[in-house]
Amino acid sequence: MKLLFLNGVNLNLTGKREPGVYGTETLESINRDIAAHFAEDECSFYQSNLEGEICTAIQNADGVYDGIILNAGAFTHYSYAIRDAIASVSVPVVEVHMSNVHSREEFRNKSVLSEVCKGVICGFGKNSYILAGESFKL
Ligand code: DQA
Repeated sequence: MKLLFLNGVNLNLTGKREPGVYGTETLESINRDIAAHFAEDECSFYQSNLEGEICTAIQNADGVYDGIILNAGAFTHYSYAIRDAIASVSVPVVEVHMSNVHSREEFRNKSVLSEVCKGVICGFGKNSYILAGESFKL
């Protein structure tokens, strides 16, 4: 199975920013654990702080990957461009968040992406990515 793990804005700072919320492990280390978990599969990893680059990555994944695991970071809460990119492709996307966005500030309760995603997983730290990846195998 070909899986794309896609991270948006500020996720490159994972391990350094707000460690009480996101932990102390870097994105690089998290990606290594994900790759080890999905050793039988073909995993790709991409992170960008730029909204348009996330859209391009989604567009380019169509017909190439079996699924996208997307943590769009704060883009989740307002990016109609990413929402439209997801709606424009047939590759399924699972939205993920490391933190439980429903137990935090009110603006995080709203995702403009969820409606066009296959599903949403949040609150399990780095395991949110693994649970989302596993969902493509059900
Ligand atoms: C996040 C939650 C978002 O609200 C936040 O803006 C992030 C990370 C998470 O993984 O919990 O950057 O997507």
